[in-house]
Amino acid sequence: ARPTTEQKIHAVVVGSGIAGLTVALHAVQSGCRVTLVTKDVLEHANTRYAQGGIAGVMFADDRAEDHIRDTLIAGAGLSDPEAVRVLVDEGPARIRELIGLGVAFDRDGHGDFVKGLEAAHSYPRILHSGGDATGTAIERALVARLRASDVRVIEHAFLIDILMRDGRASGVELLVDDAERELVDADAVVLATGGAGELYAHSTNPHVATGDGIAAAVRAGAGVRDLEFFQFHPTVLEAGGVGEAFLVSEAVRGEGAILVDERGRRFAFDSHPDGELAPRDVVARAIARQMDAQDGRSVFLDATGLRPTYEERREFLARRFPTIDRAVRDRGLDWARDPIPVTPAAHYLMGGVTTDLVGRTSLPGLYAVGEVAHTGVHGANRLASNSLLEGAVFGARAGDALAADAASGAWPVIPTSADTASGGWPVAPTPAHRSQYAESDRRVMTAERADPPAFSRAALQRLMWEDAGLVRDEAGLTHAAGMLAAWNEIPRTPRTETEFEDENLLLVATRLVDAALRRTHSVGAHFRSDDPGVSSTDAATSSPAAVAVGAA
Ligand code: SIN
Repeated sequence: ARPTTEQKIHAVVVGSGIAGLTVALHAVQSGCRVTLVTKDVLEHANTRYAQGGIAGVMFADDRAEDHIRDTLIAGAGLSDPEAVRVLVDEGPARIRELIGLGVAFDRDGHGDFVKGLEAAHSYPRILHSGGDATGTAIERALVARLRASDVRVIEHAFLIDILMRDGRASGVELLVDDAERELVDADAVVLATGGAGELYAHSTNPHVATGDGIAAAVRAGAGVRDLEFFQFHPTVLEAGGVGEAFLVSEAVRGEGAILVDERGRRFAFDSHPDGELAPRDVVARAIARQMDAQDGRSVFLDATGLRPTYEERREFLARRFPTIDRAVRDRGLDWARDPIPVTPAAHYLMGGVTTDLVGRTSLPGLYAVGEVAHTGVHGANRLASNSLLEGAVFGARAGDALAADAASGAWPVIPTSADTASGGWPVAPTPAHRSQYAESDRRVMTAERADPPAFSRAALQRLMWEDAGLVRDEAGLTHAAGMLAAWNEIPRTPRTETEFEDENLLLVATRLVDAALRRTHSVGAHFRSDDPGVSSTDAATSSPAAVAVGAA
């Protein structure tokens, strides 16, 4: 039987992006009492920064089978087909739910949704809002609905750890206002903490993306997987250190902008028949290769062919991409006139806490949704604009499921993944790291151990960027593993939010590098330059729409 009002189960949701807000709203509707905690203010989640849009089969001439196929191809064969089917089949209903909450996706003069194309989609199925402000529109609508609901909200509340009682997740320990420790007891805990872009020196993510949920799940003993699959976005505005790293949406290339080297030569077709609209990992590596050939100097995104005259272009870019247009101009650039400098940056973590199709993890009472979770939809490389969709679809499923699980009292779990570890603060190096450390490149390791540089977030980010970034090899990863092991051995007791975050980043980095070392072959976003099976380019099958637009 469902819990009565007096017996309502209490779920605590950690995180306030599309996944956390959706799970909270669905759980309340399913008869739960819900507390949502977030480490900043509600609106400050990665969702807010999503530009391109949300993918979904919303047009009569699109087909679910095609969206499924595109997602599976982008995932390089490692997606779970059942999870992908759920994502695609339930996506339209969730998009309509967002529309019902007031998200105004852009429409043309006839009132039809404007179609957007992004890389590796065979159909222009991306809906966007405010041109390139889709995440902001979605976040705003969900936050407004949440504030009007019975969900209790605690802002500036950092997740220190998941409370475990009798082997079951039973609440969270928080650091509130970077000062007070507070325990929140609950019948179920939902992690919706997002990703870990702060692992890398260059990232599109806001600074809140520090892998807190993955780290807490690992310490609690939950299974995590596929952390080696970190997606790098090809085009971040590089403006000589002026302003923060700024994402230039793939939708700009979807509209026909091209990539050129510093001499103005178009190079993306050297790597893939889909050119600029090849899967994101392929384009990012093509840019990295080109930058290497140019002694590290950035390549350029050229939007100057998008409309015949300067005035028309200026008007179009400002209307279609108002957020990017502002950022470009704020940096003193005029992209209607000149190509703009771009480089790749860390963008999205495909791996995460292992879940089933309703967000259950390997621990009773613990759920995970959104980027923190590994549902299986993204495989080795996420298809553009599938992340908002995943947060909406699996957030709703988890919100509905946890009330039912609580009512049954059974708290179903998924099998524990082999990739599980536990430990307290700080996390000790695993035997695997010790043996890698011992077995390979002793010279480098000995040097690092003799005088390891002090642990800091900046040092970690540099290490990850250089040794575990877009292109990896055994020597670099082994070097990283040694450094991480050395840092893990230094006793530290985190007290402030930043210190807790640093420990979380170190733990996730350690797991990521460990996984990257163990996966010796290149697949999707995990590219090992020492994989003998890798050809000199990333050529793969092309998709018809991408060829049509990319070659235009
Ligand atoms: C973009 O707009 O290029 C990012 C979209 C995404 O990450 O799916």
